[in-house]
Amino acid sequence: MPENVESLPSLVPDAARPGEPPVGAADQPAFRTTPVSFVRRSGRMNVRQQEAWDTRRDEFVVEVPRLAARTSVDPRWSFDPEASFGRRAPLVVEVGSGQGEAVVAAAAATPERDFLALEVYTPGLGQTVYRSIRAGLTNVRLMQANAPEVLEHALAPGSVDELWVFFPDPWHKARHTKRRLVAPPFVELAARALRPGGTWRLATDWAEYAEQMIEVVEASSAFTNAHGPGAHAPRFEGRVLTGFENKAAKAGRDVVDLTYVRS
Ligand SMILES: C[S@@+](CC[C@H](N)C(=O)[O-])C[C@H]1O[C@@H](n2cnc3c(N)ncnc32)[C@H](O)[C@@H]1O
Repeated sequence: MPENVESLPSLVPDAARPGEPPVGAADQPAFRTTPVSFVRRSGRMNVRQQEAWDTRRDEFVVEVPRLAARTSVDPRWSFDPEASFGRRAPLVVEVGSGQGEAVVAAAAATPERDFLALEVYTPGLGQTVYRSIRAGLTNVRLMQANAPEVLEHALAPGSVDELWVFFPDPWHKARHTKRRLVAPPFVELAARALRPGGTWRLATDWAEYAEQMIEVVEASSAFTNAHGPGAHAPRFEGRVLTGFENKAAKAGRDVVDLTYVRS
């Protein structure tokens, strides 16, 4: 989760930096007007992440045209999975892929599927590129972008087979809960992106966020809980243990898995 939650600036903290090339059309806002679910972090890549990023990024990272901010998505742009992966295959999208453990392990285990990882944190993306190279993967693509904008604009409706949201930032203080990703607007975007019969998998180690997930997803007629209303799912065996889950286990927090089917 973000380390600097206490020092949130009052404006949405992801605007283009002064001196950077202009982004988007001149009549578009320079700042986002709604809160995002992340805080811009200044972490640096380590040597091997940087080397992977500098030398092989083009094979994995999709260039996203921007609009209001550095991690925004120009709504006029759309992503063409067939052109990017060079084939037509079931598409799994992971939102907030962190260090890439889950997406890389799954891509290696199921080469017949394509994987798109959405993440804003540059060192995490560097690590995912590094892991993908080591695993010799050709079925992983990454976008450095605010995930809701990708789901809303860049992905064709009904084009996603599975959507994964594992350990989204919990924003557990009352004054921050409005930043939580899994809220009604995001449920609509998930419904838009997933194909009928497609699967939405979620996991969190914050009991109260799990309750919110159940409440907001099950309030939508677009989703059915695969295990019955309000029910937790068994641990998704395709989800490898990440640093975040490990930390939660050490702190004694139980993990809740949820699985929904797009009606
Ligand atoms: C708590 S971490 C969990 C990472 C990973 N899923 C795991 O289980 O290890 C949440 C991640 O989501 C990313 N994130 C948060 N909001 C996002 C957004 N709107 N778009 C893309 N990534 C986001 C953060 O940068 C962070 O890396």
